Amino acid sequence: MVQLTLPKNSRLVEGKVWPKPSGAKETTEFKVYRWNPEDGINPRVDTFYVDRGDCGPMVLDGLIWIKSKVDASLTFRRSCREGICGSCAMNIDGTNTLACTKGMDECNSGGAVKIYPLPHMPVIKDLVPDLTQFYAQHASVEPWLKTETRAPGTEWRQSRDDREKLDGLYECILCACCSTSCPSYWWNGDRYLGPAALLQAYRWLIDSRDEDTGKRLDDLEDPFKLYRCHTIMNCAKACPKGLNPAKAIAEIKHMMVTRQF
Ligand code: SF4
Ligand code: SF4
Ligand code: FES
Repeated sequence: MVQLTLPKNSRLVEGKVWPKPSGAKETTEFKVYRWNPEDGINPRVDTFYVDRGDCGPMVLDGLIWIKSKVDASLTFRRSCREGICGSCAMNIDGTNTLACTKGMDECNSGGAVKIYPLPHMPVIKDLVPDLTQFYAQHASVEPWLKTETRAPGTEWRQSRDDREKLDGLYECILCACCSTSCPSYWWNGDRYLGPAALLQAYRWLIDSRDEDTGKRLDDLEDPFKLYRCHTIMNCAKACPKGLNPAKAIAEIKHMMVTRQF
């Protein structure tokens, strides 16, 4: 079930059904959330038919085809189309994921592909959520190397074993699929940092080169920032990169109780 944040005093209505492309041998139906803050009308769900013979196989290919062939005003983010940049994260058939790595044929057993913005976030337009707070929370964990020792001449070295501790963490592309699928983040997103920011926090907490671990833990020692995670695990299920933010959060809690600094 999609948990949308609708604009104030509005309701979701059935939108326009665009005609099927003439001459198409095979089409896939897309039902896409639309909302334009400038036209003053209710959010709606438009129906499009994507010509599969004229389009790549991914949901993002379908959206790009719609934008270039049917309705140029359809608004969404994308950049790399390789699952690297995180910008095309959206809710497809009830699951947060990346439109560029989700095949149309994987969707909804051949039925309509239902596409909404990431849930429980303010919407800027159509499929574009406002991620201002999400990025501010990421910045708040100071996601960079902090040291006091004089910098070495060439580089901060790290053993192979210590480097391997960052596997499963450094791959995060900040797509926000996890945080926007987390019920605790839905209800307390202004104070709970959420799984994405906490996974990043842990990535720096266990970096053998970092020299600010105590202060980093002090900053997270807060009833809301960290402890609103109730291990519901939606985050790990949602992550399109196969990461496990819930495990990282559990590790931070463990560091809190075993810390000696
Ligand atoms: S495990 Fe924690 S962070 Fe992940 S979805 Fe559940 S409450 Fe949110
Ligand atoms: S942990 Fe996964 S779902 Fe969360 S922001 Fe990073 S890549 Fe996206
Ligand atoms: S377009 Fe970059 S992750 Fe999808």
